[in-house]
Amino acid sequence: MTTFENTMRLSGVDVAIPPLALGTMYWGTDVAVPVAHDLLDMALERGATFVDTANNYAFWREGATGDESEQCLGAWVAARGSAARERVTLATKVGARPARPGGDLSDAMGLRPASVAEQVRASLARLRTDHVDLVYAHIDDDTVPMPEILGGLQQLVTDGLTRAIAASNLTAPRLAEATGAAGDGPRYAALQNRFTYLTPAPTADLSPHVLLDEETVVVARDAGVSLLGYSPLLSGAYTRTDRELPEGFRHSGTQSALSALHDAADAHGLDAGQMVLAWMTQRTDPVIPVVGVSSREQLISAAQAVSTHIEPRVLDALDHTRNGTHR
Ligand SMILES: NC(=O)c1ccc[n+]([C@@H]2O[C@H](COP(=O)([O-])OP(=O)(O)OC[C@H]3O[C@@H](n4cnc5c(N)ncnc54)[C@H](OP(=O)(O)O)[C@@H]3O)[C@@H](O)[C@H]2O)c1
Repeated sequence: MTTFENTMRLSGVDVAIPPLALGTMYWGTDVAVPVAHDLLDMALERGATFVDTANNYAFWREGATGDESEQCLGAWVAARGSAARERVTLATKVGARPARPGGDLSDAMGLRPASVAEQVRASLARLRTDHVDLVYAHIDDDTVPMPEILGGLQQLVTDGLTRAIAASNLTAPRLAEATGAAGDGPRYAALQNRFTYLTPAPTADLSPHVLLDEETVVVARDAGVSLLGYSPLLSGAYTRTDRELPEGFRHSGTQSALSALHDAADAHGLDAGQMVLAWMTQRTDPVIPVVGVSSREQLISAAQAVSTHIEPRVLDALDHTRNGTHR
């Protein structure tokens, strides 16, 4: 994979990061473990070494507990060995695991420091490693003061359980608050919110997902926080007739935005989903796509997309079109 410039601050140093994160939300549930392991082997061969999981994937699937994705990755680590583990930049998330089996996000384990430490140790056991590279606070927790949340996460770095900390599903004001609360300790190295080319209607309810909006991009840029965007392909709806655009993304501006996207994609020999990934990684404020893959073809497609050079005027035109959608 030809990579564009991306760095993230891990263990206090700027480390090169590939412009694609492998989403493993359904590995070990919808995606069988041997298939997932084959995908991870192939991803590493192609330089897609940034792997994204969480301590609750995918608890909402029939018969699942939320252990499955991490256990699937842990089985890969056990089979391939510690040298293979070190080739992966491994990120997990805590805080959004139901406290009781059969529960949901309304009783999530949350971000109290003692719980966070316990959750991370459980993740490490499932992942069969003694540290991860990034721990995200998966969803915000307004029952815990922000300095306490940061203190708990920073302690993980001090204890060597993770190289860096990050946030997911955080709004711009809360990201600013978190940056202030970090003091002299490690700040959030990255923010992972929902992001794709199409913008939802302003009235759309995406909860519990938090959108990466322009206000958040600015706060992140000023604080040196790397950006990641999840669900970039809208589950394949840009290209597949068996996938509908989610309701909030179907509005009066959708067709013209899609038309501009298809024109740009055609001009670069990409499909519309690939164009979204290429645009994300190379725009003025790059956003690393966290892409769910369940087959070799999907992995190859994503890797090809983020390796395709797009001229700045095309990138800017796409930004302009999507931003004008609701004006
Ligand atoms: N931080 C958070 O709160 C949060 C929330 C959601 C997700 N995530 C992360 O983001 C990752 C991706 O999320 P997502 O699954 O919602 O995102 P997505 O990337 O929008 O959708 C992935 C799905 O799109 C389909 N697909 C992939 N490549 C394709 C291609 N080339 N052509 C057509 N269809 C294709 C596949 O569906 P099939 O497998 O059905 O073929 C795949 O599972 C997750 O795995 C997880 O790591 C994070």
